[in-house]
Amino acid sequence: HNHIDHATPAMVRDAINTGDIHPHIPDYQTFDAYSAAGGYDTLKELRRSGDWEDVQQKVLDSGLRGLGGAGFPSGKKWGFVRGNPGPRYLAVNGDEGEPGTFKDRYYLERTPHLFLEGMLIAAWAVEAHRCYVYMRDEYPAVLEILRREIKALEVAALVEPGYVELRRGAGAYICGEESAMIESIEGKRGIPRHRPPYVAQVGLFGKPTLVHNIETLHWVARVCREGPEILSSVEKNGRTGLRSYSVSGRIARPGIYVLPAGSTITDIIEASGGMAEGHVFKAYQPGGPSSGLLPASIDDVPLDFDRLQPLGSFIGSAAVVVLSDQDSAKAAALNMLRFFEDESCGQCTPCRVGCEKAVKLMQADTWDQPLLEELCTAMADASICGLGQAAPNPIRLTMKHFPEEV
Ligand code: NAI
Ligand code: SF4
Repeated sequence: HNHIDHATPAMVRDAINTGDIHPHIPDYQTFDAYSAAGGYDTLKELRRSGDWEDVQQKVLDSGLRGLGGAGFPSGKKWGFVRGNPGPRYLAVNGDEGEPGTFKDRYYLERTPHLFLEGMLIAAWAVEAHRCYVYMRDEYPAVLEILRREIKALEVAALVEPGYVELRRGAGAYICGEESAMIESIEGKRGIPRHRPPYVAQVGLFGKPTLVHNIETLHWVARVCREGPEILSSVEKNGRTGLRSYSVSGRIARPGIYVLPAGSTITDIIEASGGMAEGHVFKAYQPGGPSSGLLPASIDDVPLDFDRLQPLGSFIGSAAVVVLSDQDSAKAAALNMLRFFEDESCGQCTPCRVGCEKAVKLMQADTWDQPLLEELCTAMADASICGLGQAAPNPIRLTMKHFPEEV
């Protein structure tokens, strides 16, 4: 593999795609191992004699919510999609572009068939004509695993050849926005559409489309097999269910931690082995850069859906990044806005121009706070999609909680 040391990313990608080399494939649960342990029995049983509304009820009872980051009740979505005339499609969002998020990768590199069975159960529930899996190209091992295991499903006659189509993203963050993803699958430039109509009504090829994140479907399979209680019986701090926190930054053991949804940052740091040696907890990003930065003093709020909005933040995909006394909140916020500036699709002015202006203003020694606030209002109010609408969060939260730095 020596030549790879000097290869460009494009060369590596071509080599992988032509089968010249393979990325390191982790030791995951194959189709045979999954089936031997009772995998796909639920799907077969449902296809034989299941009632989709019973399954929907199970999913509703579990309290499962969309784990891409928005937390929309999953069972409810099935009802919306099913309520529109077919043909219907299922599109899986595996773009996982949120900086700090790596939970989908974690599940796919270990138990890909929980995701695949969950996907086929959801496809059965909404009578999907076809499934598209939009997968991040930066995960070559995952792509290889999915290629192999989708083939195994075809060989085992669990799906018709071509029923599940794997599509590779090309590194654009905005293609993780569901309507931009749909545009990209259709072969067009990935830019978000206006909503409504929601994709449940007008989605892929103009047809009703169920869009789910990878992890959501992983839990669909588990809820159908093990019962809604695996999620609904977990209670903490008045919250129900489990969250897969992707934890990184100044902690002793970065990784994925599956914890009760009512966990606070204190619980999460503790689960991650505490702060890294020599670091004092100062701030944290609770759920991706759009959620901004919260100070260490806000340490008793459950990091769950709906709980952070009053603070001007949100949990999103639960990408927790912990900062210490050796980090600058101001520099972190600037880094976040630089990311949005790079990744803005450029379709609307408040976001395209707003991100660029914000970066310029944030590079000053002292921020012009009234001007930044005015810019934040324009961006939040007038941007088409979540990227531009949430980009002001890091600016506002840094001005509010770290005034001495700006
Ligand atoms: P949203 O709340 O607008 O929509 C969530 C889902 O519910 C969508 O599938 C939407 O179509 C559906 N929906 C909402 N209202 C509906 C209605 N009335 N009828 C039918 N369907 C309806 O949120 P959005 O903009 O899709 O997602 C934002 C989240 O994505 C943020 O919380 C952010 O954290 C997260 N995100 C995650 C990333 C990742 O890598 N996992 C990357 C970037 C953002
Ligand atoms: Fe594109 Fe930004 Fe407008 Fe979203 S808000 S459509 S990313 S320019």
